[in-house]
Amino acid sequence: MPSRPKIMCISGPDRTLPATGAVNAEAIAIACAHLAAGELVAIPTETVYGLAADAANGEAVARIFKAKGRPRFNPLICHADSLAMAARHGVFDERAQRLAKAFWPGPLTLVLPKTPGSPVDDLVTAGLGTIGLRVPAGPARDLIAAFKRVVAAPSANLSGRVSPTRAEHVALQLGGDVALILDAGSAQIGVESTIIALDGPVARLLRPGGITAEAIAAVLGEKLQRAQHGDAVTAPGMLASHYAPATPLRLDASTIRPGEALLAFGPQSPENLPEGTDNAVMVRNLSPAGDLTEAAANLFGALHDLDACGAEMIAAMAIPDQGLGEAINDRLRRAASRP
Ligand code: TXA
Ligand code: MG
Repeated sequence: MPSRPKIMCISGPDRTLPATGAVNAEAIAIACAHLAAGELVAIPTETVYGLAADAANGEAVARIFKAKGRPRFNPLICHADSLAMAARHGVFDERAQRLAKAFWPGPLTLVLPKTPGSPVDDLVTAGLGTIGLRVPAGPARDLIAAFKRVVAAPSANLSGRVSPTRAEHVALQLGGDVALILDAGSAQIGVESTIIALDGPVARLLRPGGITAEAIAAVLGEKLQRAQHGDAVTAPGMLASHYAPATPLRLDASTIRPGEALLAFGPQSPENLPEGTDNAVMVRNLSPAGDLTEAAANLFGALHDLDACGAEMIAAMAIPDQGLGEAINDRLRRAASRP
């Protein structure tokens, strides 16, 4: 593996980078060649950047676990270009088909019984009888369509650390382990996919994410069962401590102490901001307009910035728990929890 990865620009869903169709085609062809050779490629999805490998190649998948320092019991999500491709690897009942048709391509992962005979390596599913599947939006999907098979891709960060929403985040954490980083600018959604398990009679929310639980429940016509605290076995990746910056983080801050940096939300006015904000080492406001979609998109980038600013502690203001706020608060709680 090269020690400095090649970074190729590709136009993303937000079209922030002016790559042309020809540039995209060349980058995708090179990425496919790396995947076929069993190497790792960092790919831009609409949620966060993923660390991709051919899901049927056990050695390539083992490289993902090694690069991330990820425990082997924590399964990976498989990414397909379509429901048809996904259906070769997971068993879609009527509910699963309805959700896939409503939300794919998009930030929804379905955990389904694994199709017998699927070539996806057992390492990907951590030997479970289920498989996590999603169809991402944007260039990641174009890449999978060109590769013609599913790719396993966890978020492209070291295990337990802050997820990457920009190519440079990947380069900093995993630059020595990937053959190529496809750079499509900032990830549009900014938090990972919502994970729904449909391997039993009741639909379970394993991880809140880029599609609100309310929107999913509305399409299903039933309430989602929420994973209980300590349900770590059914959602192995949902370890209490995760998404963590190196700097300690505290929640629900209403005052800022000396040496602290502030993760703010809402109006930049003295009435809204915590006492002591003026002395903060750095301030990042997730959304001065108080918009939760904007806040989700800015969350991990803000944590990366605050983590690098030299503060002793990151103090986070309270965020409303509705809609995408559920996913933001889930990530912040895990980021604040120390092993
Ligand atoms: O938005 C996303 O989902 C991003 C992008 C790259 O697609 N990916 C991502 O992957 O967040 P990762 O590996 O960081 O998180 C995958 C989660 C873990 O919590 C894992 O336990 C869960 O999905 N998961 C995967 N397969 C599963 C299965 N068969 N049963 C239960 N949980 C599963
Ligand atoms: Mg992750």
